[in-house]
Formats: sequence, C-alpha cells, structure tokens
Amino acid sequence: MATIELTLEQLRARRGTKWRKFPPDVLPAWVADMDFAVPDEVQAAVERIVTQRDYGYAAREGEEGLAAAFKYYAKASFGWDVDEAGVLPVGDLIQGMYSSVYAFSEPGDGVVVQTPIYPPFLDTIATTERRLIENRLVDDGTKYAVDLDGLRKVVDGRTRLLMVPNPHNPTGRTFTRDELQVMAEVAIEHDLIVVSDEIHADLVYPGHQHIPFASLSPEAAARTITLTSATKGFNIPGLRCALMYFGSQQLKERFHKRMPGRLLGSPNVVGIDATVAAWRYGQPWLKQVLTILDGNRARLTEFLASEMPGVKYRQPQATYLAWLDCRSMNLKPSPFDYFLEKAKVGLNDGAAFGEAGVGCVRLNFGTSPKILEEILGRLAESIREVALAPA
Ligand SMILES: Cc1ncc(COP(=O)(O)O)c(C=O)c1O
Repeated sequence: MATIELTLEQLRARRGTKWRKFPPDVLPAWVADMDFAVPDEVQAAVERIVTQRDYGYAAREGEEGLAAAFKYYAKASFGWDVDEAGVLPVGDLIQGMYSSVYAFSEPGDGVVVQTPIYPPFLDTIATTERRLIENRLVDDGTKYAVDLDGLRKVVDGRTRLLMVPNPHNPTGRTFTRDELQVMAEVAIEHDLIVVSDEIHADLVYPGHQHIPFASLSPEAAARTITLTSATKGFNIPGLRCALMYFGSQQLKERFHKRMPGRLLGSPNVVGIDATVAAWRYGQPWLKQVLTILDGNRARLTEFLASEMPGVKYRQPQATYLAWLDCRSMNLKPSPFDYFLEKAKVGLNDGAAFGEAGVGCVRLNFGTSPKILEEILGRLAESIREVALAPA
C-alpha cells in the first residue's frame, strides 16, 4: 500500500479547494477533505478508465454497479439489509437534500434540524423558502445531545421534514439508538419525511456505532431517504458520486412524481467506479486512516485541555471534525478571523452553522500528525497574546 500521509509539499501542489482557498502562509483545517492519498484500489479503478480512455455512458450492471456495491457495503459495515431497487444514484448529497425538500414540502412548510448544523442544511431550507424549525443540541457535559423534549415541542402542523446528519456534522455525534428512536417516533406521529445524511458513517471511533436511520424499523424506513456516498470515508469528494436510498418503493414513487430522475443528472463513470472500489475493497485502508484519525483526536483532546482550556470541546465520536466553542475567550472580531489572522490557520466559521454556532469554529483534523502538530502550535501561540493582554 502506498503511503497514506501526504507531505506539505504534495498538499500545496494540489488543486483542490482545501489547499487553495487561503494564501500559502495559512494552514488549512476547514472543508471536510482529508490530507490522505486514496486507497490503491480506488486509484486503480480510476487509472483503468483513464488507460482505456473509456469515457462512454455508464453501463455498470451487477457487481460492477453502484446499487450492488451499496448493498454489499451496507450489510458489511452496518449489518443493514437494503433493497437495490431503492437506490437512486445522484451527483452529490446536497442535490439529494434539495430534491427531497422540493418533493415533499411547499414554501412555508417547516423543516426540523438540530443545530448547530452543516451549513447546506440551512441554505437548503432558506433558498427553497421553507421554514427553519430549529431544535438546538444540548451540551450534557460530555457530548452534544438531542433535546428530545424540545424536538417533540417544536414540530407543528405544517412541518413536513426532519433532516439529520447522522453522524452529526459539526459535533461528530453518533446518535444513540434511543435518540434515533425518538426522532423516528416524532416523524411517524407527525407524518414527517426523514432525510438522513450518512456521509460520515465510515468514520466512527472505537466505542461508538453508526446506526442507519432506516435500519431502526420498517415504519422508520418507509419514510426515510438516506443520503450517502464514499466521498468522506474514502476521501474522493471531487469525484461527485452519491446516492439517495428510499426505504420503500412507495416513497421513491412519491418522490419521482415531483422530481423526475433525469432532472437530477447522474454521477460520472469515474465516480461510480471509484465508489464501487472503495465500498468493496477499501476497508483495510479505512482501518489505517481511522487509526491515524483516532491518534489525532486524542492529541487534540489533550492539547485543548492543557493549552487552550478556554475552549469548550466535546470529543467527537465520529468524523475528523472538531467543534470548538470559543465563546468564553473573547477573540475579536470572531474566533474564525482571529485564528486566520493571528495563527494563520484556516478553520470554518461557526456562525455559518446557525445562531448556535456563533463564537465557535470547526477544525478538520484529517491530516498527518505532523501537520496537525503545526496547526496546534500556531493556535497555541496565537492565544498567548490574549492571555498576556491586560484584562
Ligand atoms: C454532513 C455532510 N453532508 C454533505 C456533504 C457534502 O456532500 P456532497 O459533496 O456530496 O454534496 C458534507 C461535506 O462536507 C457533509 O459534511
């Protein structure tokens, strides 16, 4: 297996947005892209297409197809039985989010989300003129938990969808079965469609478990659209390949009445073959990556406790994203700007994740331990100034 960790020089030569958004003196730790080389099997799948110059319309039947690979992966990774007929390949997850909202609600209808939340959920609700129904996660002292009573209360008669990143971005929660069950109960009671975004499902740390929402029960499945892809777990977001999985045929038919399949386009052949290779053969690579990420997670936890105790931080149970609540630190004009200017570290501004995220930042630790150390050193150095400033 080729080396997974990429050097700073290799990363700086990349043409992706992660390494191009900020000037060269900034270390990027923002968008959910990892600084690792993809699995050899994925690389081989891409090279095969390139070598054969095989760029015609896709015909990938049976084992070579996306639906069969998804079925295999869902069973192998989560013990979840899916029906290939429920799969709709799409270009990316956000498309799945938008099209679900268009298909199952009207302007003014309510969509419930648990905030802070990955910004495109909020954008989808705002730009389609649906009504944001917010149920904030609550800090229980060790993790950000779903406010179950709050959830029961916020849903009203014109609420149509519950959208949930499962695992949750930005907090890195893997929701417990109890939390998911309550969400499912609320959805069933109020006849809501559930959109469960499971893009981070591969990146779960020891002691925690990803539970696909649609695996909870047949009643939950019948109203759940699962959105997923291999793009986060296997680091291929630029290849634009994802799928929507409808937990019942009736749900898929209802969707298609409002949203013709052709309107959504389809993934490209490179994305399909890379995804199939990742889902079928990528597990050894994933295991290696998770070991690096888990080490980074431990280092970050220790670092924040000792060097930046003003940051409120709940260790993520999944994802390579860390949610840092800097509200008590009084960093001006905002923690995001402060760290960009003083530390030369490019994070995500928590304000984009909703009101609940103001004063917070999201840090991506999906990089080599060496680069992470450099990022942490810069952050620590930058706040020394604040610590030394007169009150
Ligand atoms: C929770 C979540 N959903 C969706 C996406 C984006 O998916 P796509 O690039 O397929 O639209 C991301 C990317 O960071 C994400 O974190």
